[in-house]
Amino acid sequence: ERGEYRHYMLKEIHEQPNAVAETLEERVTHDHLLAAAFGPDAERLLAEVEGVHIIACGTSYHAGMIARYQIEQLAGLPCNVEIASEYRYRDPVVPERHLFVCISQSGETADTLAALRLAGEKGYLARLAICNVPESSMVRESDLVLMTRAGPEIGVASTKAFTTQLSALALLALALGKAHGRLDAEAEANAVAELRALPTAIEAALELDGPIEKLAEHLVHRHHALFLGRGVHYPVAMEGALKLKEISYIHAEAYAAGELKHGPLALVDEDMPIIAVAPSDALLEKIRSNLEEVRARGGELIVFSDAESGFLPDERTHVIALPRAGGPLTAPAIFTIPLQLLAYHVAVHKGTDVDKPRNLAKSVTVE
Ligand code: M6R
Repeated sequence: ERGEYRHYMLKEIHEQPNAVAETLEERVTHDHLLAAAFGPDAERLLAEVEGVHIIACGTSYHAGMIARYQIEQLAGLPCNVEIASEYRYRDPVVPERHLFVCISQSGETADTLAALRLAGEKGYLARLAICNVPESSMVRESDLVLMTRAGPEIGVASTKAFTTQLSALALLALALGKAHGRLDAEAEANAVAELRALPTAIEAALELDGPIEKLAEHLVHRHHALFLGRGVHYPVAMEGALKLKEISYIHAEAYAAGELKHGPLALVDEDMPIIAVAPSDALLEKIRSNLEEVRARGGELIVFSDAESGFLPDERTHVIALPRAGGPLTAPAIFTIPLQLLAYHVAVHKGTDVDKPRNLAKSVTVE
């Protein structure tokens, strides 16, 4: 039931604080990750893992791309992420003691399911499914399961499934880091505290709905938009671009901001809005200089950042500062919220069928 909300998508966007809290429930205490979060035998198994392959489609693939940065950083393990429709038709080479991870809201996406089955023949240490539907094929066919607890997602554009996937993947990165002795008690307690603060940080981000709705007016009549991010926020930018194209039918592309000079900078003129995800992290100065180049070429900028970043608005630069920007484990989920809201409001202004965008199905069960 949509209740007070105009669309399921908007309802699901607002359900995220709760969905994330549910997904963390009974998996972390106040200061540590619970060993049983991944099932009884998982601790021993995770300690044996020497590398991770993540496979998914669409939004779930973006979650995997984000997890890669976190798994490499926290666990020091090599991690590859690939689209299921590519993986299943390669002949993937699987080094010893690798963990296969598939991510899927529905657990029924044809390509991801085929990848999971192919992985069964490839000698992985184990196959883990991160999934939102308990009775799905992927859950039945995997060795390990970590459920996201987003509840049913009706809107075709994935929102709460994504942020709960990010929460589950953060737990995986932590569990791997712990199993490999890379996380002392203090680091673990800090990471868990950061995760536990995520629902509140998402709530704070949702408060920005008003200003974002206003900004959406700038995009309604545009035909193109460029999303930029760096590091872990590059896949966040990809997710923002996917949301916009999916429900507003505006052509949107995401680039790692460092790639601008290698081609896409040629697209920038007054008609090309640039949407940047630029929190105060280690790469802030890098993306700042990328954005200055865009600005110098007349592009209109919409910058999602935080209070510390020092971005100043002017007539062609709109700055939205997130009140709680989170740390390396949670910032991607937090910065996704304004991008979801932006896409939503642009679509509503344009009058598209937000919950059922043209040509798309909620679950892609055929190739
Ligand atoms: O159910 P899945 O997570 O396997 O679905 C994967 C994609 O089809 C899905 O994320 C799709 O990209 C969404 N419509 C994006 O909003």
